[in-house]
Amino acid sequence: MSDREEWGSRFGLILAMAGNAIGLGNFLRFPVQAAQNGGGAFMIPYFVAFILLAIPLMWVEWSIGRNGGKFSHGSLPGMFDVLWKHPIAKYMGAIGLFISTIIMIYYTVIVSWMLGFSFFSITGSYSGIENITSMGTYLTEFQSGGDQFFTSMWPAYIFLLLTVALNFYILSKGISGGIEMFAKIALPLLFIFAVFLAGYVLMLGTPDPVNFPERSVWHGLAFIWNPNFEYLGNSKIWLAAAGQVFFTLSVGMGTLQAYASYLKPKDDIALSGLTTASINEFAEVVLGGTIAIPIAVAFFGLMETQAIADGGTFNLGIVSMGVIFNQMEYGQFFGFMWFFLLFFAGVTSSVAMAQPLISFLKEQFNFDHRKATLVVGGIILVAVHFVFVYLQYGFLDEMDYWAGTFLLVVISLIEVIIFGWIFGIDKGWDELNRGSDIKIPKIFKFIIKYVTPVYLIFILIFWTIDDAIPTLLMSKAKPENIPYMWGSRIFMITLMIGLWLMVRVAWKRKKEKEVS
Ligand code: PHE
Repeated sequence: MSDREEWGSRFGLILAMAGNAIGLGNFLRFPVQAAQNGGGAFMIPYFVAFILLAIPLMWVEWSIGRNGGKFSHGSLPGMFDVLWKHPIAKYMGAIGLFISTIIMIYYTVIVSWMLGFSFFSITGSYSGIENITSMGTYLTEFQSGGDQFFTSMWPAYIFLLLTVALNFYILSKGISGGIEMFAKIALPLLFIFAVFLAGYVLMLGTPDPVNFPERSVWHGLAFIWNPNFEYLGNSKIWLAAAGQVFFTLSVGMGTLQAYASYLKPKDDIALSGLTTASINEFAEVVLGGTIAIPIAVAFFGLMETQAIADGGTFNLGIVSMGVIFNQMEYGQFFGFMWFFLLFFAGVTSSVAMAQPLISFLKEQFNFDHRKATLVVGGIILVAVHFVFVYLQYGFLDEMDYWAGTFLLVVISLIEVIIFGWIFGIDKGWDELNRGSDIKIPKIFKFIIKYVTPVYLIFILIFWTIDDAIPTLLMSKAKPENIPYMWGSRIFMITLMIGLWLMVRVAWKRKKEKEVS
């Protein structure tokens, strides 16, 4: 236990945890979700999910993590095993390992686009493009090749390799020397960039008041912030809001637990957890909400902005932003700021996704740090190729749906039941409050035990019926994509089975050791 790594300082831990949470989810995914789900109509279920799902789960995850660390466990199989002495617990934990690893694989590819676009902004490669359609072509040709802007996929491939290498380098330096160090540089920088951009957007006001008085930043902000009760009966909005809250706070993936496992048993978690969640929300609703939507409304109007958002996750943050930068003075410079901030936000998240698997190899298979990082780095390096090459056929979307949307709700339900019902809410509550610097309102004890699990069960039922079954049956898939989507599924199933087998082997060995 004594040779386990630790965070260097509380400040560093909070930055690393905030870096884990703040990512592309805040700046790219959030605006699109808000625009697709009616703006002000979305924000009500969003905040409900934040208070009743995310905050309680976040505390549960920090508790499970710090407790696991006492037993030298940095990943969910071991953490669940110490809370619930049932042979199946460790296999359920392996689902958590699966989620973080799969997300890491596709997320790295997306993060590498941000590096690419930082470069293209500063060099002015797309500066002549003036409409959304051409910019969209620019993006897809960059990703998958073409004949107008990019004739090969080499540029994208090089940025991908650079991104994998940076992740690998940070991870090789360990918890405090790598992840914490990088967060101390990346987070302040990304905040400076984001505050600057948000401030700039606010100053834009109404760019063309004579011809387009309704195209203004204020209309964009009003769209997000005027509560709209009309659509509250629509279950789709509630599901989307819950999904966004999970994704942005990194809940249900095993990464908060992994980071928390490097705390000392009496370190505060209640206040640190709340602080990082608040920092994430500031970055999401204040900064993330003030950039992409208001600026798009100011340049294209509200209807068009919603149409752009409906076109896909990256259309608002990459395509429309690119066109807007080209119309702005110093646009190259602003473009660089935007994409580089996304790149840094992405890297501080992607290193978090690798950590559970690294801890798992070190703790269950006695790998040293070097070997563990090499193996995880190697897996990532091989796996990103599939996502990269088969991107246009929905390989990535399939992973994002199952690991990045559906299973994280499943694992959250499992973990809140283990914590509140099997381990027991009284013991759990004591665990959460040990060393605490704040007094958490008692009502959260009730929420963790009853409200959060029931809420999750509802979400899962609706989700399964509305969405998961049709997605499973590929009823909306393009026929030519189906073989690749199956490829993606086979890839995921193989990884899941592989992790289960590893858990089995590790525990068998442990038993043998205990006996001898
Ligand atoms: N929370 C991150 C984001 O908003 C994504 C993430 C997912 C981070 C899984 C860690 C683990 O982009």
